[in-house]
Amino acid sequence: MADYANENSGLTTSRAKPRSRKWLWIGGAVAVAVILAAVLGGVLGSRAHKNNQDSSASGAAADSGPSPTGEAAASQAASIKEAIGLFPTATNSQYLLPLYPSTTNTAAYTTPTFHASTNASLAWPKDSFQPSNPQPTSVRPDRPRLIAPSYKWNALPDLIKSDPYLKFWNDTIFGNATQYFGLEPVQYHLDGSSGILDNAREIKMRVKAFAYAYRMTNDTKWLDRTFSELENAVSDSFGPSGTDKWNPTHFLDTAEFTAAFAIAYDWLHDAWSADQRSTILSSMKTYGLEVGLDAFSNSSTGWWANNIEGNWNCVCNSGLTMGALAILEDDTTGLAEQLIAKTIPNALANCIWAVSSDGTWSETANYWYFGTTGLAEMTASLLSATGSDYGLLSTNEHLELTGYYHMYVTGPGSLFAYGDHGPNKFSTTANAILFWGDVLNHPEYMLFQRDQHDAPEPNSMFWYDPSVSGAFWDGLALDRFFDNSTDQWGAMRSSWTDEDALYVAMKAGTLQGHQTHNDLDAGDFVIDALGTRWAGELGSGNYLSTGYFSSDDQDSQRWLYYRKRTEGQNTILVNKANQLVSAHPTVNHDTSGTAQGSSTVLDVAQDSTAYFTADLSSAYDNVTSFKRGIRMINGRKQVLLQDDIDASGDIMWRMHTNATVTVSGTTATLTIGDKKLDLSILNAPSGVSMSTGPAVRFSDDPALPAGESDQENPGVTVVMISLPAGQYNLQVLFNPQWSGMSASDFVTPPFVAVDSWSLTSHN
Ligand SMILES: *[C@@H]1O[C@H](CO)[C@@H](O)[C@H](O)[C@H]1NC(C)=O
Ligand SMILES: *[C@@H]1O[C@H](CO)[C@@H](O)[C@H](O)[C@H]1NC(C)=O
Ligand SMILES: *[C@@H]1O[C@H](CO)[C@@H](O)[C@H](O)[C@H]1NC(C)=O
Ligand SMILES: *[C@@H]1O[C@H](CO)[C@@H](O)[C@H](O)[C@H]1NC(C)=O
Ligand SMILES: *[C@@H]1O[C@H](CO)[C@@H](O)[C@H](O)[C@H]1NC(C)=O
Ligand SMILES: *[C@@H]1O[C@H](CO)[C@@H](O)[C@H](O)[C@H]1NC(C)=O
Ligand SMILES: *[C@@H]1O[C@H](CO)[C@@H](O)[C@H](O)[C@H]1NC(C)=O
Ligand SMILES: *[C@@H]1O[C@H](CO)[C@@H](O)[C@H](O)[C@H]1NC(C)=O
Repeated sequence: MADYANENSGLTTSRAKPRSRKWLWIGGAVAVAVILAAVLGGVLGSRAHKNNQDSSASGAAADSGPSPTGEAAASQAASIKEAIGLFPTATNSQYLLPLYPSTTNTAAYTTPTFHASTNASLAWPKDSFQPSNPQPTSVRPDRPRLIAPSYKWNALPDLIKSDPYLKFWNDTIFGNATQYFGLEPVQYHLDGSSGILDNAREIKMRVKAFAYAYRMTNDTKWLDRTFSELENAVSDSFGPSGTDKWNPTHFLDTAEFTAAFAIAYDWLHDAWSADQRSTILSSMKTYGLEVGLDAFSNSSTGWWANNIEGNWNCVCNSGLTMGALAILEDDTTGLAEQLIAKTIPNALANCIWAVSSDGTWSETANYWYFGTTGLAEMTASLLSATGSDYGLLSTNEHLELTGYYHMYVTGPGSLFAYGDHGPNKFSTTANAILFWGDVLNHPEYMLFQRDQHDAPEPNSMFWYDPSVSGAFWDGLALDRFFDNSTDQWGAMRSSWTDEDALYVAMKAGTLQGHQTHNDLDAGDFVIDALGTRWAGELGSGNYLSTGYFSSDDQDSQRWLYYRKRTEGQNTILVNKANQLVSAHPTVNHDTSGTAQGSSTVLDVAQDSTAYFTADLSSAYDNVTSFKRGIRMINGRKQVLLQDDIDASGDIMWRMHTNATVTVSGTTATLTIGDKKLDLSILNAPSGVSMSTGPAVRFSDDPALPAGESDQENPGVTVVMISLPAGQYNLQVLFNPQWSGMSASDFVTPPFVAVDSWSLTSHN
């Protein structure tokens, strides 16, 4: 039960693991003939997205001869890359996810592979800095040090010419830099959430783009614009005077300002005048690094350093590390050395453990972005500046699984976004998995992320290995289960590349130990189908509201807010009460093990299925037993949700949807745009029916703290099924109305107790 069901999903890679922790290099080039017929695949017309690939990249069916190996494979990968260009046709779909053409191309969309060891012209050149005994305060002689060393910058002009992704990202970064160039420097403002974190991250995002543009052009307009952004962030009009300017009592802000200044200082080191350099350095010390050193012994600014496994620890240690690395040797006070002696052990003791043994991030799917950006920037900077990661990549041996967490928590209708969503992202992206894909040998992470809307940013230019080839979906299991007791969730889908795919995710897990970013939501689920989300999440409440982060105890004020209460989730309520924070669910799951192949078009077999069940009895008072199960049936075209419950209090089934809902007895029709999904209760007990209501608190809920109110949930309807106390086997069937599927193509599954579910129990 506790294994990672799909860990060996058939993905194979061309490199031994663990991959070298140093940047890779290989010398020598060999010319190889290119067979275009093998490059250009056939386009299938069917279920997937209508915008077929540019006709220049489609045509004859692929050569079905034996797959090339070694240098021939590398050569073929290179020519395919040039011929096809970007895989997706767009990343600006409704949910900002990539749209893939309906196509098959067994030469291109094949096993994820790195070719750096076979084709030098696809790979990064050799790094001449190879310390035999790396020390965190002994830095490479040349700049830049942070994120990536100069040899990677120097290789970019050639690589951009031959790699379509690097070209697209370079163009986009220049476009973004040009857009920011015309704006006023970021004005000081409280961001309505936590302080001045938005200010800091927006400045960091701009500085990276400006500094990149400068290094790629030597045009001093970028240098000047970077300086005006920095000058403004330390000016008298920017926040309070004195050492609190960067808001150290909300240290994330301080850490992100420090990271922004560190990047500007280091990437543009040789271009600054002596005066500018000294201004940037002394500002960074005064407002960032000195308060940072103090934070390690000051609980008001440094609580995050003490036993905190979450994004705070990663972001704060990362910003301070980057700042310290940037000024090593230029500043001789010893401040940088003292900081690095604290940040590395602190991140090793805390940050890296936010990844559980199954790869799940301890907070939420959105907080994963903040924590992993911090951890990846810190690690990449240490690796680049000093030649080692000091165990940040290996001490938590499960860190490498966190790319799967992100991939599987991403559905075609966006993230399974349980709990809080977090603040604006700005400089925060999912590009940490490009870095881990490279250094932890997961080409599928790199292939997944390179198509995402947030891929174009400077980090990607260095973390992407242009020798990667293949398709992330080739051989990738459709389902995966994450069952560390702290998280316990599963994701199942009908395709990785069809924007209309069916996607179901459900969670159990403990309700404490998530940095107070979770909801009381054991049993919560989402469903996507037909290109939209049918059962979804409400997201964060107001971070500034009274008691919102007070604690995760049962009597915490956090649990007074609708979006955090059990009634605000897609699960069962008993006596309209919140779930018990002491819940310790157990889970069960299985999958037919279906994996996608090379094609973007996948027609799964009729018996292809997966299910996830949870014993949620411990989450409730007044419940003798409660088991919830969710599964795909009928060849992944329908979903069955079943609750086997015995409760001495009133029971209410709840689901939040953006759909327009029409109920009729035991059925409901959900409509979003021109798409429909039918819901029905099977074997409904007499007198039981569906009803709908607004997503608002019950009038008899305990009162909110004085002066507080819940957020509105505009457009959201709650579908409900109310049952008096008793014992039930409540089956709810979800039938998305797929085009071309007639009423008789839908099945009515048999009743099988959740405890007896198997892969074949519903055939
Ligand atoms: C390496 O890739 C380049 C394209 O980037 C290609 O022109 C060359 O033929 C390849 N060499 C080998 C040995 O595969
Ligand atoms: C990067 O993009 C900019 C803007 O599109 C372009 O002018 C520049 O030539 C590109 N750099 C390279 C190395 O191709
Ligand atoms: C960067 O530019 C691209 C292309 O214009 C745009 O889609 C994207 O939103 C921009 N990113 C930011 C953070 O402004
Ligand atoms: C920028 O200037 C540096 C130092 O003179 C030089 O090495 C580099 O080639 C120049 N880059 C560009 C894009 O002109
Ligand atoms: C802790 O940090 C706060 C905020 O910067 C500061 O006001 C306070 O003096 C510090 N406490 C100590 C003991 O240094
Ligand atoms: C869950 O993950 C945490 C963090 O990695 C780990 O300490 C714990 O041992 C894991 N629990 C199980 C049951 O594997
Ligand atoms: C409604 O749609 C928004 C935007 O796509 C999404 O963030 C939210 O989760 C959806 N809400 C529900 C209840 O599905
Ligand atoms: C459980 O039921 C008892 C008796 O009706 C009631 O006093 C108690 O509040 C209930 N607990 C919850 C959490 O609803």
